[in-house]
Amino acid sequence: MKVLGADIGFGYTKASDGKQFQVFKSVVGEANEAQFSETLLPGATVFPRHIQIGNQSFFIGELAEQQSRGRGFTLDQNQFLGQYARTLALAAMAPFVDSGDPVRLVTGLPISFFRKYKEPLTNLLQTRHTIHVVKTGTPEREEKIINIERVRVIPQPFGSMFNLMLSDIGKPASQRFISEKIGIIDVGFRTADYTISEKTRYSERGSQSSDSGIAVAYTAIANALQEKSGVNIELYRLYDGVSKGTIKIKGKRYDLSGIVQHAFQQLATRIAQEVNRLWADDWDIDAIVLTGGGGTALAPFLTPLLEGEVLPMPADQDARLNNVFGYWKYGQHLWGA
Ligand SMILES: Nc1ncnc2c1ncn2[C@@H]1O[C@H](COP(=O)(O)OP(=O)(O)OP(=O)(O)O)[C@@H](O)[C@H]1O
Ligand SMILES: [Mg+2]
Repeated sequence: MKVLGADIGFGYTKASDGKQFQVFKSVVGEANEAQFSETLLPGATVFPRHIQIGNQSFFIGELAEQQSRGRGFTLDQNQFLGQYARTLALAAMAPFVDSGDPVRLVTGLPISFFRKYKEPLTNLLQTRHTIHVVKTGTPEREEKIINIERVRVIPQPFGSMFNLMLSDIGKPASQRFISEKIGIIDVGFRTADYTISEKTRYSERGSQSSDSGIAVAYTAIANALQEKSGVNIELYRLYDGVSKGTIKIKGKRYDLSGIVQHAFQQLATRIAQEVNRLWADDWDIDAIVLTGGGGTALAPFLTPLLEGEVLPMPADQDARLNNVFGYWKYGQHLWGA
């Protein structure tokens, strides 16, 4: 039996078995069979990005982004679960699973979708899935049975909470997170999730999802770029430019630093207003944790606007992985030896 965590985000899909992890863009595309992608994608991932489910063949993540003609990406929860979640989850877990070996999986949903989609997501994943993993650029395919015998779905930000609270063997590691009242702000690609853990209990009143994900800032940046360049850039292709502060479009270089600064400042202001209003009655919060990939990006703008002590996240870690590592630890806590 193996414990896995999988965080199927709107921006990125992450999975871990506690030893290894992978993260790829939540993009699914048609596979084109005559492929030379191995030579076309130097330094590509070690994990497979081409899988077959039934008679459908998919490229996943960056491979889909770069090679698929028809590719899908959505910020709609219904469509996400209906069309992409299963494919993304299976591709994410596949490298960590021995064919047929029982898997127990912890995954999450945004707070606002939690009640409505907990059962459908469990039913979607908790079964035996037969897939074929294709060795990129070759016709070689290997059958793999991903045998998911148990699924536990938790509100997404609790992943980051468990990551701070539990050790690798799923035992309490930090007294602070067990005995205090902690606010968690998880800024992802599409959603920002807010929640409170009071002595590890979930506070309904203090919990809410909003649409204030990084995509809001990226939309503003894409609009500004479209005005200047005439090109409508897909949001999921903006990260490199945003982090470098400059982007090259059709041979011309555009400076992004001013636009990014402005867009991040505005988004941080919006999130701070939402949080400070939501937690107005929770003035006794001991500390606030800022997590998710977007949380790190916004931290310099957001921290001064929050009313409370904001705990710094480890700077050497990719904050996109905080939830999935917590899911895995929680799995250890539930089912580990
Ligand atoms: N190395 C990186 N590559 C890409 N994005 C990164 C990286 N490091 C940080 N980020 C930031 O992380 C954000 C995505 O965060 P995260 O993976 O937590 O979102 P998500 O979980 O997919 O979205 P949601 O929670 O809305 O479903 C990006 O928009 C970007 O701002
Ligand atoms: Mg997320």
